[in-house]
Amino acid sequence: MSKSTQYTSRRLLLTLAMATTLVAAACEQPSDVGETGGQAITSTQITQVYTNGSGTHQTISTTNNVDPNNPFFQSLGTNGRSCVDCHQPAQAWGISPVEVTQRFGTTGTAPIFRLNDGSNAPNLPVATVAQRRSAYSLLMNRGTIRVGIGIPANAEFNLTLVEDPYHFASATELSLFRRPLPSTNLKFLATVMWDGRETVAGAPIATDLNNQANDATLGHAQAATPLSAAQRQAIVDFESALFTAQVTDSNAGSLTAAGATGGPVALSQQAFHIGINDVLGADPSGAKFSTHVFSAFDAWATQTGSAQAAARASIARGQNIFNTRTFNISGVRGVNDAIGVANLTGTCTTCHDSPNAGDHSVGLPLDLGLTDPDKFNTNDTPRYTLVNKTTGATIRTSDPGRALIDGKWAHVATFKGPILRGLAPRAPYFHNGFAATLTDVVRFYDTRFHLGLTVQDVADLSAFLAAL
Ligand code: HEC
Ligand code: HEC
Repeated sequence: MSKSTQYTSRRLLLTLAMATTLVAAACEQPSDVGETGGQAITSTQITQVYTNGSGTHQTISTTNNVDPNNPFFQSLGTNGRSCVDCHQPAQAWGISPVEVTQRFGTTGTAPIFRLNDGSNAPNLPVATVAQRRSAYSLLMNRGTIRVGIGIPANAEFNLTLVEDPYHFASATELSLFRRPLPSTNLKFLATVMWDGRETVAGAPIATDLNNQANDATLGHAQAATPLSAAQRQAIVDFESALFTAQVTDSNAGSLTAAGATGGPVALSQQAFHIGINDVLGADPSGAKFSTHVFSAFDAWATQTGSAQAAARASIARGQNIFNTRTFNISGVRGVNDAIGVANLTGTCTTCHDSPNAGDHSVGLPLDLGLTDPDKFNTNDTPRYTLVNKTTGATIRTSDPGRALIDGKWAHVATFKGPILRGLAPRAPYFHNGFAATLTDVVRFYDTRFHLGLTVQDVADLSAFLAAL
């Protein structure tokens, strides 16, 4: 029996077993979950078409590397976890709170439920199902993982107050609740991780990903020894060939019909280099910035008639708003302070500048204001008060972001501009999962930057984002 069929039949047995509470109680032994956590996967599941809230999405592998025995799918540490536990093809290689809650089932012992970083704090009691439900509440409610990082020695600030509802965080290890970034479409990365901590200056992204695979195994999977060079390379080869995008929209139909170029195949052929289309002139090719970042739905601008044509026209209008609607960018740490301009007229594409991928093509950390506890109710996550050692200025934040990596005051609460493909299957959005839906993302921007969007604009822009 091959390894994968063995796992499949085990999973079937487990599903049957779950039906009876008697056996479910026996499953409470965390020691056996590594093998029966239900996360084994088949080749087909890597590239199958999955249904999501606004249509379907699919992943392709440009090297046809769909081996379910790749180390990406293996338990390589001590806690039964593998990469796929937090990077699921059905959620565009991220996770969703709904699916994670299903995985909790009646026992909460699947490999994603581990104290080190799945829980709200590693010191919480998890002996009973009720305790586990409470300890893993952020993972189930918002799909966030606890990233633990301390204040660096060279920090330009002190941590003067920790308000942690779980009584764990300190200057040695802050608890930062972040969404897994998708392990797909990696061709378009300019920096690795929300805070760029896996990015080595001057090294190619492949090197960063190589280190990242090892660090993820030592951290998330609590491995005792580093991965071999061959294991790291196999993981990077596997994930780097993956491209994921929406393929059909519930209202607009196929995203490659009538001249549109949505979907993963066109995405895999999209050109990219670090700095491409940079607004501040950092494109090494010397090409000037163009606001026409997304062109996948250009051909739909003139669609009229049927309900399907109207849905296509709406996506095209949303793309046009994304590319061209101007607004005043102000108070963004990393932009306004960095270039010394208090009010910068820009578009969504000022920051989301990579053609048809939508991430920021340079590793510039930015603060949109998403970590301010006074603006956003984040009482279920820790809050930190930082004081500038020189000026005495104070910032209260739920996540100091990049500043925990380079110690810079100017980088407090800054994060990278992520890739905007395969969005529909992986709500909620932003590093902290603050926006529950794509419409909430659009409303956040509308309020934050006073875009003055009409009801139709909000619908169009949301439809466009959902079609990516
Ligand atoms: C317990 C959940 C978990 C596991 C297991 C896990 N990851 Fe992640 N992964 C995350 C989170 C959370 C982030 C974002 C963290 C951050 O930026 O601070 C992330 C980020 C990434 C990124 C960065 C993508 C980008 O846009 O920068 C890659 C690549 C990745 N993971 C690959 C892997 C690989 C390969 C493995 C297995 C060796 C793995 N992950 C295991 C949760 C997980
Ligand atoms: C000033 C730069 C900037 C501008 C302008 C900007 N964004 Fe963003 N965007 C970012 C950054 C940075 C993030 C990540 C923020 C975080 O999570 O902390 C982000 C995140 C997002 C996300 C969430 C992606 C995910 O994986 O969670 C979406 C969707 C998005 N932006 C859409 C838009 C739209 C639509 C507009 C125009 C209305 C826009 N952005 C304008 C910088 C910008």
